[in-house]
This record gives sequence, structure tokens and C-alpha cells, in this order.
Amino acid sequence: MVNWPELESKYYMQTIVRVPVTLMRGEGARVWDDKGKEYLDFVCGLAVNCLGHCHPVIAEALAEQARTLLQTSNWYYTVPQIQLAQLLVENSCLDRVFICNSGLEANEGAVKLARRYGHIKLKGAYEVITTMQSFHGRSLALTAASGYPSMHKPYVPLPVGFINVANNDIEAIKSATTEKTCAVMLEPVQGEGGVNVPDEDYLKKVREWCDRKGILLILDEIQTGVGRLGALWGYELYGVEPDIMTLAKGLGGGIPIGALLAKEKAAVFAPGDHNSTFGGNPVTSAAACAVLKYVIDNDIAGNVKKVGQYLMEGLEELKKKHSFITEVRGRGFLVAMEFNSDIAQDVLMACLEKGLLVNKVKPNAVRLVPPLIIGSKEVDRAIGILDKALSGIVR
Ligand SMILES: Cc1ncc(COP(=O)(O)O)c(C=O)c1O
Repeated sequence: MVNWPELESKYYMQTIVRVPVTLMRGEGARVWDDKGKEYLDFVCGLAVNCLGHCHPVIAEALAEQARTLLQTSNWYYTVPQIQLAQLLVENSCLDRVFICNSGLEANEGAVKLARRYGHIKLKGAYEVITTMQSFHGRSLALTAASGYPSMHKPYVPLPVGFINVANNDIEAIKSATTEKTCAVMLEPVQGEGGVNVPDEDYLKKVREWCDRKGILLILDEIQTGVGRLGALWGYELYGVEPDIMTLAKGLGGGIPIGALLAKEKAAVFAPGDHNSTFGGNPVTSAAACAVLKYVIDNDIAGNVKKVGQYLMEGLEELKKKHSFITEVRGRGFLVAMEFNSDIAQDVLMACLEKGLLVNKVKPNAVRLVPPLIIGSKEVDRAIGILDKALSGIVR
């Protein structure tokens, strides 16, 4: 039998701390490793496989488009790209779309757009205010945007123009705003930072402040968009509309794609300002169209709202039973369980052994981001495995 981790350690750059399992195949909410062992997948490509693994709707859209037209330059019009843009606009509060290949690219586009806006409408303002514990991507600029000093350190000097302020603190945003500020960029719920849910009125206060100052509100919905929080877009839950929104992860259901959306007033790119070789490629766009249509037509966000509540109740029961769980938090299918010590890796390994994939989001917290299509049966199974795993943890 091939030892895949050994081969990986020989050939792959050693930049990823991996979970010791080689996944070979997936179907729905389940995956199988190279020894044929089955796992319930509550990581789902890190909040990506919203329809589960290998959903026929995605597989068929990909196969059909692969037989028809794989790639053209963006110098030409292609139908899936235009259809995806139309679908996004008709089902959100935004007016215009640019399609790219990842979350990072969507956020780079958002920052560039905000700077163009600053140059054109705000006397050259270029600074973007972001929050601590935010994660926006791994380019140099987005490393600076992300609120992790430890992430900044290995790559200094970083691009200027990003101010990281305290999370969930409107006064911190107000204090950091100057005549140089062109935008505030936030995740509706911070994902990589540990699933940090803001106060109910935080986003509304930020929206009001941005309006008062004439600056843009960028919502990074790369993790929260496409139904994950129990609404199609996270902003709906907080009663605000962003000027710019970025998407990736769930948009392709497993196909690499990102999107930058903007209100008409903020869509200030002129011809030649921005482009991408692969962005809006016919194949990825066709897959994303299929995903988005499925999510909308089947009210997948409604399922997340209902089953997400059930998941949260199950986790609360576990909290009552295992006193070292200090908090369960989240919205919809973006949830975390925090412990009173750094045992997340032990919990992850115990779950793995018992057939459940979870993500260590912090040394003392695990994150659950299951596919959006699961029901109470899968939740019961996950809670049962978690219970057994937690019962065996030696602290
Ligand atoms: C909120 C958020 N923004 C941006 C990104 C970066 O996306 P990508 O990894 O596709 O570049 C991520 C990835 O985890 C994310 O969660």
C-alpha cells in the first residue's frame, strides 16, 4: 500500500500541518480514507462543500461544460460567466459582479476597488480598517489586512494601508477613521478567528458610521455566504447591506471560484483596471451556477437555520455533560466549541479515530462546518461521536 504522507513529506513544500489521514473518495456528508474507513465530514473542505461531496448537480454541470467549452480569454463573452453574474445580482443586494478563482483574489479585488473609490471620490483615501482575529487571505496585502500580528511577522515589510482594530468594537473603528480611510472590511461572523459572533447591532452601527463618513463597507462573506449562517447571505441576518461583498468557498461547492460584488455606486473599475486569466472561466462558472441555483431553489439556507438550531441544542447538551467545555457559539452551520485548556488537537484526533472530521480552529476550540444539506440524522451521529470522544479525553 502506498504511504501517501511519506511521499508528501518528500515532494510537497512543508507548509501545511496536516491531519494524519489520506482521503480518497466522498459522497454526501461522508468521506473514505485509503484504508476504506468511513468518516462523517464536518469540515467539508473548510466550509466549501456546501452540497456535500460529489453532488450530481455539480458533477453534471462540470462534465457538460467540459465537453462544450473549457476556457477562453476574458476578451470574449462566455455564457456561464454572464449567467452566474445575473444569478448573483438577482439574488442579492449588490448590482455588479467580477468573478475570480479564490477568496484571496476576491478580497484583493475588493481592496483594489475600495482604493479606486478612494482615489476617485474620497480625495485619494486608501486605508482599509479591518479587525483583530479577522482572516482575509494570504497575499501580502491580505496578510496585512488580517488581524493576526503573528501572521504579519514572517513577511515584513507588508503593504501599507491596513489598520487592524479591536473586533466587535464600533468605537475602535470610529477612532481609527481618518481622512485617509476609504473602507471598513469585516467578516459578518469571523470564521478562522475562532467563530466570533458579533453583537446583534454591531454591523448596523458600522453601516451607520460608514454612511456618515462616506466610506465603503466591505463584507467578506467568503466563509459566511451561500447559506452557511442560515440565510443566503450573512448580511441579511444583521439588517445591513454592504457596498462590496466577497464570496468564494461555498459558491463553487468544491470548485475553486471567488466573486467580488459591488453596489453600482462602488463599482468604479474602468475598463483595464482589473482582470484575471481564469476568473469567470466557463467550467467553474457553470458549476457555481448549478450550486447557487440548487441552494436557492431548495431553500438550503432554511435547512441550515432549522438543523443548525438542532446542532446547537446538541452541543449545549454536551456542554452540560462535559464541564471542560466553556462555550458553544456560532450561527447556522458555522459553529465552535471552546474548552478550558488546549485540548482541541486531542479532541480532533479522538473524533478522527471514531469517524468524525472536525477542525481545530484554535488550540482550545474546534470548529464544525458541515455540508449545508445534512439533516438531524447526521447531527445525531456527530453529537454521539463527539460525546464519546470528549468522554475519553485525558486532561
Ligand atoms: C473569511 C475569509 N476570507 C478570505 C479567505 C481566503 O480564501 P482563500 O483561501 O480561498 O484564498 C478565507 C479562507 O479561509 C476566509 O475564511
